[in-house]
Amino acid sequence: MRLEGGGIMITWLRLRLWLGAALLVAAVLYGGEVALPASLSLVTEAAAQDVRPPEGATLSVVITPQPSDSDSWREMRRGRNLFVTIPGPNVGVAIQSEGEDWRSIRNGPLSFYGGWLLFVIILLLAVFFVLRGRIPVDAGFSGKTVERFNGIERFAHWLTATTFVVLALTGLNILYGRYFLIPLLGADLFSTLTVAGKYAHNFLAFGFMLGVVLVFVLWVRQNLPNKYDFIWMIKGGGMFSKGVHPPAKKFNAGQKILFWIVVLGGVSISVSGVALLFPFQFALFSETNALVNIFGFDLPTDLTPLQEVQLTQVWHAIVGLLFIVVIIAHIYIGTVGMEGAFDAMGTGRVDENWAREHHNLWMAEVEGGPAPGADGKAQPAE
Ligand code: HEM
Repeated sequence: MRLEGGGIMITWLRLRLWLGAALLVAAVLYGGEVALPASLSLVTEAAAQDVRPPEGATLSVVITPQPSDSDSWREMRRGRNLFVTIPGPNVGVAIQSEGEDWRSIRNGPLSFYGGWLLFVIILLLAVFFVLRGRIPVDAGFSGKTVERFNGIERFAHWLTATTFVVLALTGLNILYGRYFLIPLLGADLFSTLTVAGKYAHNFLAFGFMLGVVLVFVLWVRQNLPNKYDFIWMIKGGGMFSKGVHPPAKKFNAGQKILFWIVVLGGVSISVSGVALLFPFQFALFSETNALVNIFGFDLPTDLTPLQEVQLTQVWHAIVGLLFIVVIIAHIYIGTVGMEGAFDAMGTGRVDENWAREHHNLWMAEVEGGPAPGADGKAQPAE
């Protein structure tokens, strides 16, 4: 979606660029005396004082004839002596050299390291599964259940989750589809699929945003840090040793980290996504850089609209890839990784022994039991 928009823009600019080049060469050769199509106008520097595209013009080029064509192009590239005005937010940009950098970053390190990250997380989880196996309910299932998430909580979770999965798959298709799917499906089917994916990505993004807002509102209170989180972290959540169950209330430290990644990552990916949906309307990087510069940095604050779009695309892709890596780990632990966990989001109820082992302090609260001891262990009921 983003790429296609950017691609069209670049193709469009290129078309105009070639037209500009032809006009430029003609102007250099004939001193500006060239016949132009009605929609175009070519003016010399003398006329540059009052540059306005004539009525109906789509392009107007202002030049200073140079001794050689390559010099003119160099000047043009540096934005001097010659400029093109195109109605729209990118007025005055004929050649945007940063576009080459953007393309090579996107198709180079961004895709490369992103792909590696996805491979590494799947490999790590596979190794973890082989070594640790499925984390069991040590005391076995009691057969009695307790409500863990109500209907609204599960709706918020599955709205966020299902939209995220579609966004992730369609996003990955935009970045990697051409390498894997074109050889498998052929160009025509890939194209149809990608156009459908682009619409799904654009529209489902709003469902995801709603899901993130709901998740935040419903669970923020229970995701504020407390003293038990340190114990949980030091013990690695009991993930790496059998029979170890550090204390936890409704959410343990690992789940709190996930929660804040979902909320902050969700805001970041949503803001950058909206900026890509409506290109050239936002100056996210210039504005953020201006804020960061308060702390003594010297980041550029005069980025052009096209540079803004390019940086936003790179940012959106980086946040998206990291997000997907984290969520793959979350899906693992919520399904095959831990016995009894899926029920929490499936039926909304969990086995009481599961609750006692993984969320003992929450279970004590639910049972209306005594306050936990200083070590975080729930006191035995009278
Ligand atoms: C699609 C497959 C997914 C499955 C099977 C799944 C499963 C689960 C389960 C079982 C829980 C409850 C854990 C507990 O009771 O302690 C949970 C919680 C949660 N899920 Fe998911 N989830 C999925 C996708 C997602 C996605 C895509 C997101 C966000 C983008 C997400 C965000 C959360 C959050 C914030 C929580 C609360 C914190 C936590 O329990 O980790 N989930 N999920």
